[in-house]
This record gives sequence, C-alpha cells and structure tokens, in this order.
Amino acid sequence: MKKILSALLGIAAPLLLTAQIKITHGPWLCDMTSTGVTVVWATDKPALSWVEVTEDHGKSFYQTEHKRHYETVAGRRQAHKTLHAIRLEGLTPGTKYSYRIFSREVVEWKYNDAVKYGNVASTNVFSRAPLHFTTFPATGDEVSFLVFNDVHGRADLMSRLIKDENLRSYDFVAFNGDMSNSVESREQLFKDYIDTAVKFFASEVPVMYNRGNHETRGRHADLLGEYFPTHSGNFYQLYKVGDTAFLVLDCGEDKPDSDIEYGGLADYDAYREAESEWLRATVSSEAFRNAAARIVLLHIPLGCGDWHGDLHLDKLLLPILNEADIDVMFSGHTHRYAFHEAGEKVRFPIVVNDNESYVRCRVTKGKIHIETVGTGGTTHTHEITIR
Ligand SMILES: [Fe+2]
Repeated sequence: MKKILSALLGIAAPLLLTAQIKITHGPWLCDMTSTGVTVVWATDKPALSWVEVTEDHGKSFYQTEHKRHYETVAGRRQAHKTLHAIRLEGLTPGTKYSYRIFSREVVEWKYNDAVKYGNVASTNVFSRAPLHFTTFPATGDEVSFLVFNDVHGRADLMSRLIKDENLRSYDFVAFNGDMSNSVESREQLFKDYIDTAVKFFASEVPVMYNRGNHETRGRHADLLGEYFPTHSGNFYQLYKVGDTAFLVLDCGEDKPDSDIEYGGLADYDAYREAESEWLRATVSSEAFRNAAARIVLLHIPLGCGDWHGDLHLDKLLLPILNEADIDVMFSGHTHRYAFHEAGEKVRFPIVVNDNESYVRCRVTKGKIHIETVGTGGTTHTHEITIR
C-alpha cells in the first residue's frame, strides 16, 4: 500500500509543479502570539487560498485530513487577491506545527458568484518536509530574537549578515524600521528584504514588524499593512513571548507634518497622540504589568534627537515609558551605534543599532544578553539586569 501511495505521490508532484498559477513570494509568518499566527504569500494570479495546519508529532502530514483556513471578510472567503494573508487562531502555546499553503486559481468570475477555478499551487510536502513554526510560549523567562533595522533595501547586506546565523533557534526576528527607503511597489518590498527574509527564515520564524519613518513614504505605503497584518489592525502592538512583554511602537515621520518632503500627506502628530493614548492604557494592562521583562522596539531612539518627530515622541511616549519599568529599548534611525545608559531623562537603557549590523538578544531569568553583530562578527555586547 505504501509503495502504491508513494508512486501516486510521485506522479502528483510534477503535476502540481507545472500548475499554471504560481506562488511567487513567501510564505512568511507575522503577528505571532501564543495562540495565533498570520501566514502571508503572493501568487501571480487571483486565487482562493487556504492554509492547512497540524500539530507536528513527527508523523506524515498526510496521516489525516486537515481543516482549511481561509481569509474571510464579513463571512466571505477572499478569491480576488494575489496577496494572501491567512490568520490561524486557536493554536496551543509553545507548540510546534506543520503547515502547507494552497492557492486555487480563479480563471473566470464574470458575474454574481459564478467563479470558475483552475489549478492549485501549493508549497511542497512531497519531496521535502512541510513548513513548521512554533507558537510563542505562554509562560517562561527565556526568549531569543534578532533585530534588523535600517537595511534600506540592501538585501545583499542582509544576506551577508544572516547567512551564518542559526536562524531557526530564535523565537522571532524583529524588523525595527527603515527596511526600505520608501514603499513604491509590491515588487520593491520583495526585492528590498521580504524575499531575503523568506529565503533565510521567515517561512518558519515569524517576523515582528515595526515601521520606521521611511516606510511611511511612497505610492504603495498605504498598503504596507497588508504585508505585515496585525490582529488589532495597528502597527503598534503589545506582544508577550512567555513572561516577556514587547512593546512595538510606531515612530511616524521625523520632520513636521507640513514638511515639503511629505507632499501634503503626513498627519503624524494626531497619529502619535492616538498611539500614546493606546500606550497609556496598554502599560497599565494586566498582561504588561505581570511581565517579568519589558522590551520596547521604536525606530527613533528617545531622548536624544532635536527634530520635530523625535521631540514629539519624547513629549508623548517618554513620560509613559519612564513609569512603565522598561528594561531596554531597541532603536536605529541614526545609522550610528550607541548605547545610552538609563538616566534621569530616559529611565531605561537604549541600544541604537547602526545600519551595517543586526542585534542578537537573549532573555534569561533576570538578565538580557545583547550583542550587535556586523559582517565581521560581534561588535558590542551588553548585559542588562532585569528590574
Ligand atoms: Fe530612520
């Protein structure tokens, strides 16, 4: 029976590979929590897409039939899109899963819901193992992650930086702003960093996504959220990985909203006001107050700049964060490494990563171990005692 099955699978695999519709980019994982994750990918044609997922017990993906998870909007499955984002919910914390993505081509949709479907493209589970991810744990002191910032579309630099890193040993990889110079098109986002992230880790290790000031610019910038959707719909988020809290804070633009460079489109003063209200409520939430360690990701470092955006962030966010027992903030933006000790003005340390390095961070019981790493290896190390 096994022989017949593998012969059939051998016939099926090439058929799928020659399917008309193609998965052109991804999948990548984002917005991971202890019970959910979002899977995103692109196809060259509109499709009805779904994800099949199962706990990984080390057995074949085809031992049982799997539920199909679709992207739905108000009760309707989405079939007109070429960028597919499917939220998986109800998962078990700290658990390894196997998954597979599928896109069924929509070849004709003339009126009503008379949809005609074509071939199905999918990730391969015949000649290679299915893709995996592990949900964030609900409790525990240990977390390890990497932070990239200010890549500015230099995918080649990103490749050189991460090629020797054991990426699957990390809980997530954070993008902390300015991964692109501006957001002009879908193809540009793929070329700038998403394809590289997928090649090295993002199909299996989730991205914790944060905007920088450069991602607020460009013709395609308003669609950025479709590439890294969040369950709340906001870029700013609170995540918990075990007992460690991560505040992802969106900086907005650095110059005044009226600056000629923004083409009359910037409205970040009001945006930051709304974000600061959310932050005030979030730091008093039980999830945040109960955390054993508290880490902030914010592209523009607080307390050290004199441009409008910097000063506005200092005015709105700093008073809240100074009372929130933050252990460390990770920033970029200046393109120069710096370590700002906790002081009177900013009551927590800030690691400013430069534009040629990434950050490797490991949280253990009572300590946060930090390294900045360039193409030549580790450049700076810090050990922070958790409050
Ligand atoms: Fe920046």
